[in-house]
Order: sequence, then structure tokens, then C-alpha cells
Amino acid sequence: MKNIQTEIGEIISVSGNTITVQLSDMMKSNMPVIDGIVYRIGQIGSFLKIPLGYANLYGIVTQIGASAIPDTIKELVSQNYNLLDNRQWLNMVLVGEQIGRKFSRGVSQSPTTGDKIHLVTIKDLDTIYGGYDEKNSITIGNISISESLNAKVDLNKLISRHCAILGSTGSGKSNAVGILLNAIANKDFNSSRILVIDPHGEYNSVLRNKSKVFRINASANENKLFIPFWALPFNELLSIFPGSISDQNRDYVRTKIVEAKLNTIEKNELAIEKELVSADSPIPFSINQLWFELDDFERKTFKKDRITECLIEKGNADELKSSIYETASPGGGEPFLNNKARGLLGFLDSIRIKLKDSTYKFLFESGNYHPSLNGNVTKDLSNLLYGWLGSNKPVTILDLSGIPS
Ligand SMILES: Nc1ncnc2c1ncn2[C@@H]1O[C@H](COP(=O)(O)OP(=O)(O)OP(=O)(O)O)[C@@H](O)[C@H]1O
Ligand SMILES: [Mg+2]
Repeated sequence: MKNIQTEIGEIISVSGNTITVQLSDMMKSNMPVIDGIVYRIGQIGSFLKIPLGYANLYGIVTQIGASAIPDTIKELVSQNYNLLDNRQWLNMVLVGEQIGRKFSRGVSQSPTTGDKIHLVTIKDLDTIYGGYDEKNSITIGNISISESLNAKVDLNKLISRHCAILGSTGSGKSNAVGILLNAIANKDFNSSRILVIDPHGEYNSVLRNKSKVFRINASANENKLFIPFWALPFNELLSIFPGSISDQNRDYVRTKIVEAKLNTIEKNELAIEKELVSADSPIPFSINQLWFELDDFERKTFKKDRITECLIEKGNADELKSSIYETASPGGGEPFLNNKARGLLGFLDSIRIKLKDSTYKFLFESGNYHPSLNGNVTKDLSNLLYGWLGSNKPVTILDLSGIPS
């Protein structure tokens, strides 16, 4: 009885994954009522079922009406419209199959002409969308065609693969991410941590009470976001400073940074193998001191012996103040220019401007992570990462709004 109730037509042709169905003219209505629930036949995107013995195949409606009529029949019909006989057509593509209670994507067998097509009932939908392990799945809403069916996501699959949420602007992507994060946070996985990198600062409100927030302009219950410059790889650090620099000078600065890092290891007696240190190693060094040394070298002028410096006033690394030397004589006499100078003054000026820029404080004045002139820090990377990942809140938000692009 039940089969007769849900049967709506039969297969006329099968071409690869696409199936053409002729709807039965015995259907009294396009909106049959089964078990008190109204179904609509032929909605694009809705499921249909093909029972094949012990298995059920499932397909999704892709086309309905005139465009779904097979070409051979179209030819016949164009000569004699009576042949159309008020019958309706639809095309569907196979998406999965159910064997026992288990639904899986893809099909291992193909239906053939004459096989009957059935409506998919709530119970079938439960099979298609169900089958989730309660412990490892999260509920993020309900299936749009049936409010009584929860929409679930397998957490193991979600986090062990890459995933993207795509949609046009305003379609609800941010909202969907917020719901996903909330659902995971509510699940109480004790030792899991979610780190949200939030470029627009839009998740603080969604995850209130569940998140620890790091932000440049932190309010009372938030934490200050610091990203110590010395933890950046060399190329990323240099890309912060505008202005061009030649390849030779780039290598020169790289060597100076390695020297500064080695200096830190020596002065603070750190247990780090010196051979392994590169300009990319996350070892603290004073960028003020580095700037000062490079700047001082460029500005030096010398007496006739080329050894005695013509210093007027020594500068200051902490205050980013350049040293002042006597101006070199244009005529070839004393004071002489430093003929080993690199022509780096323009680039050094751009560094000085960034170091003083208040919007870059999170990098260059990073509180306890900021190195003293001899490279000593009160707190190291382990503390930084512990702050981000070691809290008792399930989510940590790094709110990047307010950080220069
Ligand atoms: N499931 C939903 N039900 C009802 N309204 C929603 C839903 N999801 C999002 N909205 C609303 O739609 C609007 C846009 O949502 P959202 O900001 O998440 O979109 P978006 O795709 O992230 O947009 P953008 O591309 O601009 O970042 C918001 O006003 C939001 O409240
Ligand atoms: Mg958005």
C-alpha cells in the first residue's frame, strides 16, 4: 500500500548518471498528502527514490517540464500533440544509494527503464541526512525541506579536511561560521582549542562568554594582541617597511639581523646552537639597536687618517635618534665620508617611521615580549602561545581589525 502511495512515475531512459522519468498520469495532484504531510512533486533540487530490491537509489531533480522531454518524443509530439497525453517529464541525477539503513554517496548499480520512481518521505530523508555518530557530530540547524530534521556535520571530517564556506556577499557566510563555532564550543571537548583569525572583528559578539579575545585596542575584558616582530621570518619583517632596497643591501641587513640574534644568545646565555640560527629564527633582538647601528654607520665622517671619527653628538637607539657627524667636505679634504657606507639612509628612515607609528605598536612595542637593547625579553614565544591556546575558554579570537593591512 505504502509503495503505491509514494509512486509517482517510471524511468523512460537512462543516460549515464542522468535519468529521464515520465510521471504517472494516475497522480491526482502535484501536491499529494502522505501521512499528513504535503509533498510537492518535481521541485528542482528535491530527492526522489528508486527502490531496487534490497537497495534504494536516490536522485536529485534537475529539470522538469518541456525541457525534460526526450528528443525522440519531442519529434513525435511536434507532429501530433495528442501524443503528449498530458504526461509530465522530469530529469534527475543519481547522487547516492541506501543499503540497509546506511546511505552513501555515489551509486554502485544503475536503474533501468521501467523502474518505478517514488517520492522521498521524511523517513527516507532521515536515512539520507542521518547516520551520524552523536558523539562526534554537531547540529547546526535543520534541513530546509523539513524542520523536524536536524542538519548535522561530522566534526571529524570537518576538522581533518580543508573546508570553505562560499556564497555571495550578504548570503550569511559569517553567520554560518559563527553557528559552526558555537556548536563546536557547546560540545565541550575539554582539550580542543579553536583559534579564530578574525580580520573584521565580527566574531566577538557571536561567541561571547565562550571566547578569549585578543585585540589591539583591547577593552576591559579583552587582552592586548601582541605579535612580536622578532618572531616574523626575515622576508615578512622586511616587507613591513616601504621603500626599495637592493639585493646586496638586503643580504647586508640579513647578516646584521643574524649577528643581532647571535648577540642575544651570547649576552643572555641561551641554550641555542649558533649554527642553527638564521635571520628567520624566532630569537629576540633589539630592532632599535639594529636600526641605530646601521644608521650610525651610514652617517660617519672621518678625519684625514680615516680612523678618527668626526662625531658631534652621539645619537640614541631607544629614542631612535641619529648620531650627528661633521658634514663631509665637498672638496676632497677633511672630513671624509665613510666610503663603506651602503646608501641605506632612505630605507632606514622608513624603518624609523614604522617603529614610531602607533598603529604598529602591537609589533614593535609588544609589552613583555619587547626585547631590551641587549635582546632580553621578560616573556617568550611559549608564553605568547600559552596565552592564545592555554585558556579555559574553547575559542580564542585574534581580532585583527585595526591592524594595518
Ligand atoms: N540563517 C539565517 N537566517 C536569517 N538571517 C540570516 C541568516 N544568516 C545570516 N542572516 C542575516 O543576513 C545578513 C548577512 O549575513 P552575514 O553577515 O553572515 O553575510 P556574509 O555572507 O558574511 O556577508 P559578507 O559577504 O558581507 O561578509 C545578516 O543581517 C544576518 O543577520
Ligand atoms: Mg561576512
